[in-house]
Order: sequence, then C-alpha cells, then structure tokens
Amino acid sequence: MTAAAAEHAVPRRILVTSALPYANGPLHLGHMVEAIQTDIWVRFQRLRGHECRYVCAEDAHGTPIMLRAEQAGVTPEALVAQMHEAHQQVLATFGISLDNFYTTHSPENRHFAELIYTRLRDAGHIARRTIRQAYDAERGLFLPDRFIRGDCPRCGAPDQYGDSCEACGATYAPTELKNAVSVLSGSRPVQRESEHYFFQLGHFETQLREFMASGALQPAVVRKLEEWFEAGLADWDISRDSPYFGFEIPDAPGKFFYVWLDAPIGYMASFANLCAREGLDFDAWWQPGSDTELYHFIGKDIAYFHTLFWPAMLQGAGFRPPSAVFVHGFLTVDGQKMSKSRGTFIQAATFARHLPPETLRYYFAAKLGEGVDDLDLSFADYTQRINADLVGKLVNIASRCAGFVHKAGAGRLAGALADPALQQVFVEAADILAADYEQRRYGKAVRQIMALADRANEYIAEAAPWQRIKQPDGAAEALATSSQGINLFRLLVLYLKPVLPELAAQVEAFLQIPPLRWDDHRTPLLDHAIGPYRPLAQRIDPNAIEALMQDARQDLAAAAPPAAQSATPADAAQPAPIAEQIAFDDFARIDLRIARIVAAEHVEGADKLLRLTLDIGLGERQVFAGIKAAYEPASLVGRLTVMVANLAPRKMRFGLSEGMVLAAGPGGGELFLLSPDEGAQPGMRVK
Ligand code: MSP
Ligand code: ZN
Repeated sequence: MTAAAAEHAVPRRILVTSALPYANGPLHLGHMVEAIQTDIWVRFQRLRGHECRYVCAEDAHGTPIMLRAEQAGVTPEALVAQMHEAHQQVLATFGISLDNFYTTHSPENRHFAELIYTRLRDAGHIARRTIRQAYDAERGLFLPDRFIRGDCPRCGAPDQYGDSCEACGATYAPTELKNAVSVLSGSRPVQRESEHYFFQLGHFETQLREFMASGALQPAVVRKLEEWFEAGLADWDISRDSPYFGFEIPDAPGKFFYVWLDAPIGYMASFANLCAREGLDFDAWWQPGSDTELYHFIGKDIAYFHTLFWPAMLQGAGFRPPSAVFVHGFLTVDGQKMSKSRGTFIQAATFARHLPPETLRYYFAAKLGEGVDDLDLSFADYTQRINADLVGKLVNIASRCAGFVHKAGAGRLAGALADPALQQVFVEAADILAADYEQRRYGKAVRQIMALADRANEYIAEAAPWQRIKQPDGAAEALATSSQGINLFRLLVLYLKPVLPELAAQVEAFLQIPPLRWDDHRTPLLDHAIGPYRPLAQRIDPNAIEALMQDARQDLAAAAPPAAQSATPADAAQPAPIAEQIAFDDFARIDLRIARIVAAEHVEGADKLLRLTLDIGLGERQVFAGIKAAYEPASLVGRLTVMVANLAPRKMRFGLSEGMVLAAGPGGGELFLLSPDEGAQPGMRVK
C-alpha cells in the first residue's frame, strides 16, 4: 500500500513495542535511540489518524536483579518498583508517548507466561533433560556462565568468563575452564545435576523460514537468520533453579522461567493491562489472522530472541506473529562505543538536566535510517545541527514573519496565499515524507524538510516584508508575504511533528489552532488570527555541554547505590576475589615493559581481538589483545601501555602473539587499558 493510499484507507490498528529495559540500571542515551526511534514512528501513525498503541515495561526478572537487590538489602520487588518509577520519569521527559509502561513482574505476565508454556508443553514442544551445571555451594545457587571465571582452556589466559575467552576468542562450556571460581563467593564451583526444561525451537523451522521470507525483517537481519539456520536451531533452556527472581513453572516446583522466556511475553501483559483499563478487546489484537498490526523495535543485540524464539513461541501457543521486527544499531559517542572510562556512558536523565530533550530527538531523527547501522553522537555535530537547522532555519521563518502579520494585519493572516505555487511544492512533499516516516527513513525525511526550510527562507529574503512595509501602500504586500511565510512554517512544523511534538504544541498555541493532523497539509491557514510570537528554540550553549560531560563523569565516579548501576551480570557481581599469594621472586620473573602502540587493527574473523604492534624500545612485538569491544583501533595508536614482554609466544589462529598488554575490567567487554604517567618511555621496565 502506498503512503498516499494508506492515508485514505480505513484507519489501521497498530500495536508497537520497544524492548523492555532491565530493572537494574538507569536508562542511558543508547536506550533513548530506541525509545525515540519508536516514538517518532508511533506519533507519525497517530498523526495520520491510525489507532496506534505503544506499550513497554520494566524487565524485572533474573539473577542479576535478584543479587543486586540482595546487595542493596531490599526485596527485588522494591528494587524493581524504584527503577520502574525512575525509568518512567525519564521516558516522559523525552516525550516518549507510551500508552502503558508496565512490569514483567505482574499478574498478567504470570498468566500469559503460564498459558504460553502450558500450550507449548501440551503440544509437545517442551523437552526435559538433566544437565550438569556449575553450582556455588557456598551461596547455594547455580551459576550463570558469566558468574564463573577462570583460565581459558585453550590459551590459558587468566580470569576469563565461563562461556568465552576475551584473549583468544574461544568459546567453551564453563566446565572446561581451568581453576574456575564463582565470582559471588570466590569458592570453587562444583558440578551439580539438575533437570531443565527446553523449548524445542527446531520444531518451528518451517514456519520461521516462512517468517524470514515474508518481508517482516530487514535484509541484514535476514542474512543473520540464514547463518543461524545454517548453524542449526538448538533447543532453548527456558528453566532456572531456585533461588531465582521470576515465575515458578506451574508443574515444576522449585523451577522458574528464565527471564528471557517471560520478557517478550511482557509485551502482551502490558497490552492486556492497557486493555483492561481502556476496554479494548485483547483477543482481537492477538489471535491468529488478526487484522491488527504488531511491531517490535529492538537493538541488534537481541535479534535472536525476537526473530526466532518469540515468533516460534507465539506460533506454538496459538497467537499471531509480529508483522515486523525493526532492528536498529548501537549508539556510539564520538565514534567509539559508549564507555564508562571515557565518561561517554551518558545517562538520559543527565542529558535532560542540561540540554533540551527534544534536541536529542531531532538529532537522532536526523541520523536514523531503516538499517541496522550504528549511529554516532558527536556533540560538535549535534550543536551545529541544532543551531543551524532548528534555530537558524526553522524557527527563524516564524520569527521573521510573525511581527509583520501583527504590524500589517493586526495579527490576522491574509485571506489568500501570496505564492500558491510555492505552497503547492510544500503540500506535495507530504506523500514522500509520509513514505519515509513509514519506512523509518527519518534522516531522509529531515533532510528534505530542511531543504524546504531553505526555500522558505529564500522566499522571505526575496519578499523582504521589512522593506515593503516601509513603502507607501506596501502593508498589504508585507502582510501577504509574511502570511505565506507563516503558512510554509506551519507545514514544516506539521511534517516535523512526530520528531518535535513539544515544539509543534508551542506552534499550535502561537497559531491558535487545534492540534495539527497530517491531513491538514492540504488546507492553508487563511484569514485567521494568530498570537504573539515567542522564541521557540534557542542555540545550544557550549557551557551546557561542558557541564553535561562533567556530570556524566560524576555519575560514574559517584559511589552509586547498587540499585543504580548498570545491568550486565558481571557488573552485578562483586569484584573477583584476590588470587593465591605468590613469592616476590615469582613476581620478579614477569618482565613488564612500557610499550608504545604503533599500530592497531581489526583481525578478520575475530570477535574480540585487535592486532597490536608494540614498540618496546628493543624492537617491535605483535600482540593479539581481547580489547576490541572497548577500543576503536585508531584511538589506540600512539598511546603507551604496559606489556608482559617475556610471556612465551603463543600461536593463535590469526598469527603469533608475542606477549600481553595489561588491562583491567569488570568483564562484559568493558576494559581499561593500563597506561603509565607522563614521561615514561617505551622499553622501561616496570618494577
Ligand atoms: N531486557 C532486555 C530486553 C527484553 S525485550 C523483551 C534488554 N534490556 S536492555 O536494557 O539491555 O536493552 C534494552 C534495549 O536497549 C535493547 O533493544 C538494546 O538493544 C537497546 N540498547 C542498549 N544499549 C544500546 C546502545 N548503546 N545503542 C542503541 N540501543 C541500545 O536487552
Ligand atoms: Zn583463550
């Protein structure tokens, strides 16, 4: 259906979701990419007259949240309630127009999790198998892979996670780790057997292949799915043993649904809760063959859950599939992964304290497309765009014209358009812009709108009402052209309304009109009294950015209460325990040297490694370091670090590694490379 046709067709009924944020960390600007992308789409659909419901929820369950609550000395319920409140507030600050922001720890979610599970079980899609798993006997709980650390079974690198080695990129079972310890107690995990419940994903291969081919997924996501099919659809372990914060499995006392089982079901539960409140018919939206539409906006890291497990669960339990899953890329700051060490891990609430939230909506919109590419936030670029586009181009039109409508027309717009042809150009842009919004090509839409804003400004410059008004009999012309300028401005604001709802509301008040709807683009505003003009947007103050960055660094440095820290399981754990004592001589055998990184490159085929060329004064060494997740190679070149120079060379899949660089980190790819104070030179020995 073309955009133009859609506009006149029967209103669509559309349910939209964004991924549920984990309940143990604050929302950061990466989360806002998703919330803003979703909200623009939702607002666009509503502007077009469609019924569009937007729901989300707190993702409440799981081991990290349970442990974090324990650390903070509160119940998980209390921790979730506190984060729920904080998240909801931040989302509102950025104008995220959710119809419901619920929680997965709700009666509705328990109901649907049990319903879906029993339907899958009764249809023969659940298998039970006893598995051996690492168990922390001191703490009395089974250990998720990320809560176990030890030496890599392949390369021997110390202090690696239970599922993969950051030094050599190997993946393995936690049982293969050497010298494994539980990060919770420091004790040696024991192997313990337990019966687990598995969802047999492979039963759904045919339907999933159809889903993949149905056009519901972006090309890049389809390619990923093809890889996953190629690798084979393994059974999915959906149960966890007590103690676990979650829902107990109905026919299995002491066993709980894994957090990722009930998380997507949280979309349904949030919607069901909305239905009860607003008298909507839940079944009409979720039964197979429903004529409603269902869309999930998610980040690329959770595509597996949303394009395989979730559609299969829905299918197997007799519910409708998603109409599409929209996957976006990750936010980087100044070209690099958001990082706590660089202070670029910016909380959304901190941003909103210093800069107008709507400017972030505009900036992200200008950079978002329909693909899964990452997008970068650079504050220089942000400042330039807000100042040039919103202040210099857009708002400038109204501020240049409004005064003459008041001076020459006593505040009443002219009765006819001064340049109907130009108006028509703006009107005709509507269909293309609508198609771009529909397809999530927001950047393209914004570029076209700004090109129109340029034309409006050129028109005003030529018409020069400020000169005409000084001429005898010039008042009528000044009124006509400034009224035309206001009409062009009105269309630009209408087209930007999904992105800038607050600005649009201010303009509606200024123009004294009811809320703009997409269809209004056809009708100009004539012979109509407008209010006085008040400034609508301000230039970005460089000091505000400076203050924001300072606050962002403080957020990280502050001994945040446990409840306010990030969501990675490794973060939720306490620091790794101190290793066994060694004699001084043992230490002295390690030759640590200052090294200068003279080259750093990606390694073809390696997920975690960078190839570093190090100058240690005595020549160059090649080292493969598992720091890819934390550093952009270019940013490393020239900097000093510390290397173990006498480590026996290791032959790796990618070549010979002649040493190690030193870095510290809590895990999860977050790492801080060690570097010496100023003055140190390559080759100096560390003592
Ligand atoms: N709780 C799960 C989602 C369950 S959905 C049934 C989760 N939570 S999360 O808090 O880690 O992430 C929430 C969403 O934010 C995900 O879609 C994730 O991809 C997105 N983002 C998290 N960091 C991001 C960036 N740096 N950039 C863009 N999106 C990011 O995953
Ligand atoms: Zn290894």
